Amino acid sequence: QTEMELPPRPELFDFHGVAMVHYFTDNWENVQNFQAKPDDILIATYPKAGTTWVSHMLDLLYFEKSCPERGASLPIFERVPFLEFCVPPMPTGIEVADKMTTSPRLLKTHLPVQFVPKSFWEQKCRIIYVARNAKDNAVSFFHFDRMNMVEPEPGDWPSFLQRFQEGQMVFGSWYDHVKGWWDKKQAHPKLLYLLYEDLAEDMSRELDRVTSFLGLHLTEEERRRVKEGVDFDAMKKNSMTNYSTIKVMDFKISPFMRKGKVGDWKNHFTVFQNEQFDQEYKKKMAHTTLRFRTQI
Ligand code: A3P
Repeated sequence: QTEMELPPRPELFDFHGVAMVHYFTDNWENVQNFQAKPDDILIATYPKAGTTWVSHMLDLLYFEKSCPERGASLPIFERVPFLEFCVPPMPTGIEVADKMTTSPRLLKTHLPVQFVPKSFWEQKCRIIYVARNAKDNAVSFFHFDRMNMVEPEPGDWPSFLQRFQEGQMVFGSWYDHVKGWWDKKQAHPKLLYLLYEDLAEDMSRELDRVTSFLGLHLTEEERRRVKEGVDFDAMKKNSMTNYSTIKVMDFKISPFMRKGKVGDWKNHFTVFQNEQFDQEYKKKMAHTTLRFRTQI
């Protein structure tokens, strides 16, 4: 892995009420004017909720049979462009998306629901949202920010956790994100809301949900191949899914495929932090029907 010349770590700033860094707002007009096609599939998540997992799953579902070399030669961020990504000299997410010739296009975003380019709604695209319980999501985000130079400095764990609770993270508050998308589900029936914990608990069941949402029919053999492909250890070893080809991450600090577990938060939260967190959580999640499991 060679070093890339990058400016210092970016600072968070308020962007229409959501904390952001410039790397994901610099291309804003092009993002907002992005022209979705009716068969585009958008994978939306709060960072570190299982984006890569579901991206790879969908890519295998659509292209493993017709184009097996794709998964062996194209890193996941080229197969599933990250729409708002704008980190020169790398091509922007919009540039990668606009150049795609395969269909359907699988596209990724971390945007809160109110920022999604309007053509996705106009074209009635299928959208898969993935959410992960707040505690594991926070831990994963912390390790990610330690090793990813296009993220703000994470500071130490206690201060990071505090800022997570306050929504001072890139892409804003976890609470607003997961609730905003949950509410959107009522108005947009073509939105499938997945949970990381459900994927970890029973991949066969979740694969059924996904394929039935997408209207796909798989043979037993195809199912087996997808399940093998999305296994954590397989993805960790696979240089096309483990982000080892991207230059802005320092795997000596922490690998992208870190643990892939439900409940790793228990190795990070003190008893006191956990109590405080639970209290805050109750307040912030009081008016939603959305429920998470922090262990399975
Ligand atoms: P951890 O840091 O807890 O290990 P994203 O893709 O949204 O950035 O999310 C990354 C998180 O998903 C990381 O969590 C990563 O290990 C986990 N992950 C990625 N692929 C996975 C898989 N196949 N099975 C389980 N977890 C996976």
